[in-house]
Amino acid sequence: MSARIAVLPGDGIGPEIVAEAGKVLACLQQDFGLVAEIEQAAVGGAGYDAAGDPLPEATLALCREADAILFGAIGGPAYDGLERELRPEKGLLRLRSELGLFSNLRPAILYPQLAEASSLKRELVAGLDLMIVRELTGGIYFGQPRGIRELDSGEREGFNTLVYAEHEIERIARSACEIAMLREGKLCSVDKANVLEVSELWREVVSAVAADYPGIELSHLYVDNASMQLVRAPKQFDVMVTSNMFGDILSDTAAMLTGSIGMLPSASLDADGKGMYEPIHGSAPDIAGEGLANPLATILSLAMLMRYSLGQGELAQRIEAAVGQVLDQGLRTADIAAAGEAVATAVMGDAVVAALRAQT
Ligand code: IPM
Ligand code: MG
Repeated sequence: MSARIAVLPGDGIGPEIVAEAGKVLACLQQDFGLVAEIEQAAVGGAGYDAAGDPLPEATLALCREADAILFGAIGGPAYDGLERELRPEKGLLRLRSELGLFSNLRPAILYPQLAEASSLKRELVAGLDLMIVRELTGGIYFGQPRGIRELDSGEREGFNTLVYAEHEIERIARSACEIAMLREGKLCSVDKANVLEVSELWREVVSAVAADYPGIELSHLYVDNASMQLVRAPKQFDVMVTSNMFGDILSDTAAMLTGSIGMLPSASLDADGKGMYEPIHGSAPDIAGEGLANPLATILSLAMLMRYSLGQGELAQRIEAAVGQVLDQGLRTADIAAAGEAVATAVMGDAVVAALRAQT
């Protein structure tokens, strides 16, 4: 059966890094028997330029049809002045919401070859392998009402709503438990239950769900403490589960522990395993088009796509092994290079393809 993969390059460095993942995809088709139909569509600022909408109708339709989506990055200064509904970020948020991609997996893995790239001491991060499971379609990102209103006094007031229904907490907790069961079984739920009622409910529901999994060792941390623990002793964590906004923040911190946000992939899954896969770094408009971007996070996102949505765990391992090989060979893009020895985006992509081919 042919898998359908939608490819959305987006803005900034998105097209460059997705092009390199495209080479890997083509290699899987040519040399490793992958049968896939691949179709590209515009999203974010590119969607706005093409169709006046950061999530054009045709793009959403293609994504609905697809088994999996490979996403580059969105956003750039050219679009910052647009009204909120038309901004690139809205395209990404609507995709997550329309497709029900509620479970966001953000691994933070330190590649031994890159231990020196971390801003933390080597012994604190050596061997780090943690997974943040972030709720992605609820919470304050989507809660209603929201807006900016004028008070009687004439002063303006901004407001958003933090809301989680039980079923939303339950399904993300289940997702996190399933993932923890495949790992060390240690799950830390992060909330702000000392202040927020939403978090009180969160804690109660997560505890009830985890009780269904005897193999899970559940702990709870307040988000302020969790952020401190992440930079104090990150290896204490195996899987962390948290709400949309806390996960947004903690996953950037966790990413930086590994030295380069340019290395980290992510998956956003619906209830049936359909998913969207994207590097966790953004569109980096300041370096777009210069061949400086690191394509490995996108290539590793493709590996996650193979594993979680196409059931091709072996191909995923092959991609990951090829990435390990190019790091062993000493290849580094600017973001992970010590001074002066960086290779260009396309050189890195070609090297991964060569390493893959060498496996045949
Ligand atoms: C992320 C990003 C997005 C988010 C932005 C671009 C809307 O920061 O994926 O972490 O906040 O979710
Ligand atoms: Mg973020």
